[in-house]
Amino acid sequence: MEPFIWTSEYEIGIVDVDRQHRELFRLMDSLSLSLYRGDGKKVVGQVLHSLEEYVAQHFSLEEDLMSRHRYPDVVRHMTQHRQFEKQLAAFKKDYERGGSDSYLALRVNKELVAWWKTHILQVDREYRSYIVDAPGDGTPTGA
Ligand SMILES: [Fe+2]
Repeated sequence: MEPFIWTSEYEIGIVDVDRQHRELFRLMDSLSLSLYRGDGKKVVGQVLHSLEEYVAQHFSLEEDLMSRHRYPDVVRHMTQHRQFEKQLAAFKKDYERGGSDSYLALRVNKELVAWWKTHILQVDREYRSYIVDAPGDGTPTGA
């Protein structure tokens, strides 16, 4: 299993977004580990719930930033976010159907790592300049 470790490679330079990405990595790491250890339904359920809530909060922060700064590709970016939510919901269903096992843990880990790496390094990077370099409103915090 590939550990979910946030490194400066993932930094996009908007303080709130980077902070949330870090927390998302932490939550996804605990989800992978929890499934791998075969933790009980209560524990896995709690981790899944925290992750879902945090993902929703994070996506709405980014979508709000992109809309406020009139990022031209906001719709395509939002489509990716909706796809991720579907993927997470599908994992949840698989878990509810079959419980934890190492196969599900590995699959969840592999797909989540792959999605977030691509999303942060390519898709999130693309809106960065519209927010950070925005005249007058381009504080690096982006908040
Ligand atoms: Fe995003």
